[in-house]
Amino acid sequence: MKVLITGIAGFIGFHLAKKLLDKGETIVGIDNLNNYYDTSLKYARLKELGVIYDEQNPSDSFNSELYNNLVFKKVDIAHREELDEIFTKTQFDCVINLAAQAGVRYSITHPETYIKSNIVGFSNILECCRQFDVKNLVYASSSSVYGLNEKIPFNVNDPVDHPISLYAASKKSNELMAHVYSHLYGIKSTGLRFFTVYGPWGRPDMASYIFVKSIINGEEIEVFNHGEMQRDFTYIDDIISGIQKVIEKPASSDENHNKTVMFSSKSSAPFRIYNIGNSKPIKLMDFITAIEKKLGIKAKVNYKPLQPGDVLVTFADIKEFETEFNYKPEVEVEEGMNAFVDWYLSYYGSKKNEQSLVLRQD
Ligand SMILES: NC(=O)c1ccc[n+]([C@@H]2O[C@H](COP(=O)([O-])OP(=O)(O)OC[C@H]3O[C@@H](n4cnc5c(N)ncnc54)[C@H](O)[C@@H]3O)[C@@H](O)[C@H]2O)c1
Repeated sequence: MKVLITGIAGFIGFHLAKKLLDKGETIVGIDNLNNYYDTSLKYARLKELGVIYDEQNPSDSFNSELYNNLVFKKVDIAHREELDEIFTKTQFDCVINLAAQAGVRYSITHPETYIKSNIVGFSNILECCRQFDVKNLVYASSSSVYGLNEKIPFNVNDPVDHPISLYAASKKSNELMAHVYSHLYGIKSTGLRFFTVYGPWGRPDMASYIFVKSIINGEEIEVFNHGEMQRDFTYIDDIISGIQKVIEKPASSDENHNKTVMFSSKSSAPFRIYNIGNSKPIKLMDFITAIEKKLGIKAKVNYKPLQPGDVLVTFADIKEFETEFNYKPEVEVEEGMNAFVDWYLSYYGSKKNEQSLVLRQD
């Protein structure tokens, strides 16, 4: 199978690529390698895939030195002509769009980035799927679409008309845009609402990473809403196994579709939306305790009020996904955090360059 992965240098894209490459799929990976967080982590993920990216020759294609079934190219999905070139060269069986500006808090200060990557970029992906006759599209949505909804667990058919960040609004927009293309052009589209993904090679702007880094460095950790938050932390391997299932079984139209009782998650068009989460929300303080236990260091906690854009609880109802794909998340938070901490220590322990530990402040 020929698969395009956008955002391949990112946390989830990297893990997915590794899994699919090991299975022998042919992968074209693209990423704009932006500096939202430390780019050396993105280069290191590419290196782990055998791609030695050369900043001096950014417009080159890079063949992997480890996998003869991988090619990487620096491409911005918001630049249509760059994408056209990729789609012209390869007829893809499946496109997996993970490239996006992620992060809720950053969308408060940098709204334009979300419009560019998540709206313009995603519309380019849809247009390319249409013009180059790609039948199977899988794309990342997010638990943040649930916004003001406080009914838990979050069901894919709950109303999501009240987002509280531009990030969430951009992800909901992707679902709506995908429905149009599924309806008009028969593109089989599956949107996956991920719930707080963590694990080795994770994102430096996320709680798991920030907490581990700060606790190791003896720095205070900021805990918002005075610790009264719960997150449905989902281990990366459980996300990847979910994505793989969707690749193997593209969306189909709902046989029982009834135009007088509409569902958000399915349609007369080949269109689906699913939650993928652990379906077991963890109190933030329990999450921190798991890190303290693994590191053997007590955290210095600075309790802060709720941040704009943050939701109190995320909790995935994954019944649809369980039933249709025989899916079951397998990794408990303690086991997952142990794996993350082990990776963190070996990755940064083997680097003498402390610079790479400095996070962007903006
Ligand atoms: N990690 C999570 O907990 C989580 C939760 C919900 C949804 N998601 C979504 O899953 C996807 C992957 O997330 P991630 O955690 O791997 O994030 P990430 O930031 O590590 O990966 C995204 C990658 O996309 C690239 N990118 C961004 N804009 C681009 C553009 N315009 N053109 C090309 N490449 C671009 C970035 O350089 C980055 O490498 C994103 O769509 C994100 O919104 C992630």
